[in-house]
Amino acid sequence: MSDSSEYFLKTYKRHSPVFVSGSGAILIDKSGKEYLDFLAGIAVVSIGHANKYVAEAIYKQAQTLGHISNYFWSDAQLKLADKLHELVPWGKLFFANSGAEANECAIKIARKWGAPQGKHEIIAAHNSFHGRTYGALSLTGQPKKWTGFTPLLPGCLFADFNSVKSFESCITDKTVAIFIEPIQGEYGVLPAETDFLVGISNLCKKRNLLLILDEVQGGVARTGKWWSHQNYPIASPDIMTSAKGLANGFPIGCCIASENVANAISYGDHGTTFGGSPLASSAALATLEFIEENDLLTHAHKMGEYFDSIFSKIPGVKHVRGFGLMKGVVLEKPIAEDVQKKCFDWGLIINNTNQDVIRIVPPLIVTQEQVIQASEIFSKAVSHLS
Ligand SMILES: Cc1ncc(COP(=O)(O)O)c(C=O)c1O
Repeated sequence: MSDSSEYFLKTYKRHSPVFVSGSGAILIDKSGKEYLDFLAGIAVVSIGHANKYVAEAIYKQAQTLGHISNYFWSDAQLKLADKLHELVPWGKLFFANSGAEANECAIKIARKWGAPQGKHEIIAAHNSFHGRTYGALSLTGQPKKWTGFTPLLPGCLFADFNSVKSFESCITDKTVAIFIEPIQGEYGVLPAETDFLVGISNLCKKRNLLLILDEVQGGVARTGKWWSHQNYPIASPDIMTSAKGLANGFPIGCCIASENVANAISYGDHGTTFGGSPLASSAALATLEFIEENDLLTHAHKMGEYFDSIFSKIPGVKHVRGFGLMKGVVLEKPIAEDVQKKCFDWGLIINNTNQDVIRIVPPLIVTQEQVIQASEIFSKAVSHLS
C-alpha cells in the first residue's frame, strides 16, 4: 500500500486493498482481484458502480454548467425538484451535501417552527444514527460516539426504539419533535415494529409534535418502496431527510418539510454553497430516472425475498430482517466481525454492525446469481468460524 495512507486522520480502520474500478455490483482492486460489493458504499451506489446513465449525465452537465451557487436557479436543480415533487408531493425541499447535513436542516426547521411556542426539545431513539455533525451527533443515541465531544446540542432526549410508552414519557411542554429512522441502519438493520411507528405517528398528531423521519439510509427504493416508511400504514411525516442512494455516489442530501412546517423557514435562515449544484442534481435526476425506468422498486422487493429465502437457510444464521435490499443477517454466535473479514478475504464485501449482525445492502441492480454467489461465500465463512 502507498505510504500516503499515513497522511489521513485515524477516523476509519480500512482494509488494505486499494480499489481502482467497479462495474455494477463488482469492485476491482489494484491487483485485479474482483469483489462482490454487497455494501455498495454503505447503501449509496444504488444503481451500481460506473453506471453509464449517471456517468453520461455528469459528463454532459460538467461540460455545460457545473456550479453557480444557490443565489441562482439552475435548470438541472429545477428538473430534480420536479422529479422529487412527483415522489414526495407533500413537501418543500432543501438540497444539502450529505445525510448529516440534511438532518441538520431538519433540526433547524423543527426548532424554528417550535420557537414561537417556546419548544425546542427533540426526542430520538437509543441506538439511532443520524450523522457526525454536531446536531446530528447530538441526536445519535450512541453515547460512545459522544466521548470527548461534549457538551452537545441541548434539548436532545432519548427513548427506547419500538416503545411508544418510552417516547411518550420523554415528552415535556418543550418538546417539538420526534426524530427516528423507520429502520435503524447502523444498529443492525432493525425495522420499527408496525405498532410502534403507527403509535408514534398518532402520538405526534395528538401532542402537536413534528414527526421527522430519517430516510438517509432506508430511502430511494432501498426497501422496495421509494421511502422506507411507506412499508408502514402511516401518513407522511412532517419532515423527511434523504441522502446516500439519491445520486449513486455523487454527494447530495435533501430535507423535505410539509408546507406549514416549511413556512417557518425564511430567507437567510439556512444555506449551503454546494448543495444541489447542477452536477449533483443531474446525477440525482439520472439515478431516480434509472430506478424508475428499470422498475428497481419491484426488483429490490423480489431480490429481497430471494435473499431471505437463501440466507435464512444458511447454518449459523438465526434470522434475516429488514425490507427489500436493506438486510440485517443475525448470526447465532457473536462472530460478525470475523465473518466480515473472512468474506472480504474471499471477495465479498459486507459490514458487521453489531457482534452478531451483518448488514447487507447491495446495489439495487443485483442479480439472482450474485445473491447465490454471495451466499456461498457467506456460508463458507460462517461455517469456517463456527
Ligand atoms: C440513518 C442515517 N442518517 C444519517 C446518516 C449520515 O449520513 P452522512 O454520512 O451522509 O452524513 C447516516 C449514515 O450512515 C445514516 O445511516
